[in-house]
Amino acid sequence: MEGQYYVAPVATLKIRMNRDSTLEKAYLKEDSDIAVHCIDVHREFQDGSRIINVLRGTNLTVKKGDFIAIVGASGSGKTTLLNLIGGLDQPTSGTIIVDGIDITDLNDENMSKMRRDKVGVLFQDQHLLPIFTAIENVQVPMLLDEIRPIERHERSMKLLKAVGVDHRAHHMPHELSGGMRSRVALARALANNPAVLLCDEPTGDLDHKTGGEIIKLMKDLAKKENRAVLVVTHDPEVARMADKILLLRDGVLVEELVSQFFKPSGVDVTTSSDAQSEGNGLTT
Ligand SMILES: Nc1ncnc2c1ncn2[C@@H]1O[C@H](COP(=O)(O)OP(=O)(O)OP(=O)(O)O)[C@@H](O)[C@H]1O
Ligand SMILES: [Mg+2]
Repeated sequence: MEGQYYVAPVATLKIRMNRDSTLEKAYLKEDSDIAVHCIDVHREFQDGSRIINVLRGTNLTVKKGDFIAIVGASGSGKTTLLNLIGGLDQPTSGTIIVDGIDITDLNDENMSKMRRDKVGVLFQDQHLLPIFTAIENVQVPMLLDEIRPIERHERSMKLLKAVGVDHRAHHMPHELSGGMRSRVALARALANNPAVLLCDEPTGDLDHKTGGEIIKLMKDLAKKENRAVLVVTHDPEVARMADKILLLRDGVLVEELVSQFFKPSGVDVTTSSDAQSEGNGLTT
């Protein structure tokens, strides 16, 4: 395996892969403790004649086992950032490394492999498939891998047990409570043993107590399994459970300003007039 790596100290991570390179060649010899490394990431969108500069030089380092919350005003670019890290979108410029792979210039096939092998996603609108049972939903991501059905079953049962819903394995989603469905979705996101779990408002539909339980579960699993977890949230209570809270503001992530949004009274960033005015960077 060693021979397939590029030797690239963090300072020289500007290596780009050719579009026909194999995924193995895209590996960089980086600090193996680092799960996600974003270096000077920019993302612009064209909106008619306007360019929207959403991310403007974002830097981020997430170690394995870290549980990080990302907060920020609506439209500040939180989902955009998760999509980039998850390989669902490409930055305008900058470098993104996920578990030792520079994902910035991967071709479509290698990007799909990277997503399958390295990333688990838990988005609020990613519902369980209604025609499959809980355990079948957990097995869906495993179908792309060549895993024997018996192994698939054992692994998915183990995951359902880890999230506390193994007793409902053979129930249909509509027979489960909202909290149970979220647990099944979490098990599904962990199905391929990802190095990075990306969560976008994962508890948005849930009451505070159930949401808190899910977040605690994610945190415990991150620590136990040395996974990196990035959670985008508008909920101060959720953010407070993280090891670190990062605020996306003016297209970059900042740590030091967060305390002003999370005073003991719990001022929600989304209702702060200051935060609202940050929004995204529109230029004409
Ligand atoms: N594909 C796209 N094309 C054009 N503009 C986009 C695209 N995706 C996102 N944007 C714009 O980028 C900005 C950031 O969007 P994003 O969804 O990342 O915000 P967010 O911080 O996740 O907001 P929220 O908290 O409301 O979910 C918004 O102005 C959005 O309209
Ligand atoms: Mg969003």
